[in-house]
Amino acid sequence: MPGYLVDDARKVTTHRLIQMKNEGKKIAMLTSYDYTTAGIVDKAGMDIILVGDSASNVMAGNVTTLPITLDQMIYHAKAVVRATTRALVVCDMPFGTYQVNPTEGVTNAIRIMKESHCDALKLEGGVEIIDVVKKILDAGIPVCGHLGLTPQSINKFGTYTVRAREKAEADKLINDAHALEDAGCFAVVLEKIPAILAKRVTEELSIPVIGIGAGKWVDGQVLVVADMLGMTTGFSPKFLRRYADLYTIMTDAIGQYITDVKNKKFPNDDEQY
Ligand code: KIV
Repeated sequence: MPGYLVDDARKVTTHRLIQMKNEGKKIAMLTSYDYTTAGIVDKAGMDIILVGDSASNVMAGNVTTLPITLDQMIYHAKAVVRATTRALVVCDMPFGTYQVNPTEGVTNAIRIMKESHCDALKLEGGVEIIDVVKKILDAGIPVCGHLGLTPQSINKFGTYTVRAREKAEADKLINDAHALEDAGCFAVVLEKIPAILAKRVTEELSIPVIGIGAGKWVDGQVLVVADMLGMTTGFSPKFLRRYADLYTIMTDAIGQYITDVKNKKFPNDDEQY
């Protein structure tokens, strides 16, 4: 079995992630939204699979993450959970399902857990959502925070540029990270912030800090699966490493299929009953 495949087949738990941080072992996290992809990602040995609300962009073609609904996230999470045996499955709470009030937030959180059977939830924001975070944790649901560039607030930011370069925003982010840890979150995602700030947060928190565009000093990394496999084009932020060029591979394969059908080369005698 190649080295990157599972050498410890036990189901990953939030407790184990904290152990990994303490032991200096890096945490690998990747998004998935469907059964087939999640099966491959899990078998490869991923620690955390994120059913990200980036499904809104990747699966549905929306410009932002805002339109995806609770029902749609549950649909994606169910498919991912069915395919996963080892990774911890974290599902994003979509925009509008936890911001109105804590009671509505915990009701929606419980619905995702009951219907999808995922392991944990991720919410975007710091002190402004701390009441709903606490209520969800009180219900026994593990919560992962998400700070820095929080795509559900893109209309407020007005830009996808790096966050927290200025001192005031950096100070707020550090304060938010502590508030999430103190509330009982098991991890925090930091998106698109200076590496030196992410390093400081990682050193100050005892829970794992997972980065996307947050540099190399964090406890783990997360990417969007379609981006790192090179299925998407026209999106190339500095932090994105493409591990494959599936866009070209798929286009060539599909083009070959079209050619074979048109030239009566598919199916051949061995491919029919
Ligand atoms: O929805 C998502 O894919 C995410 C990651 C970018 C962290 O939240």
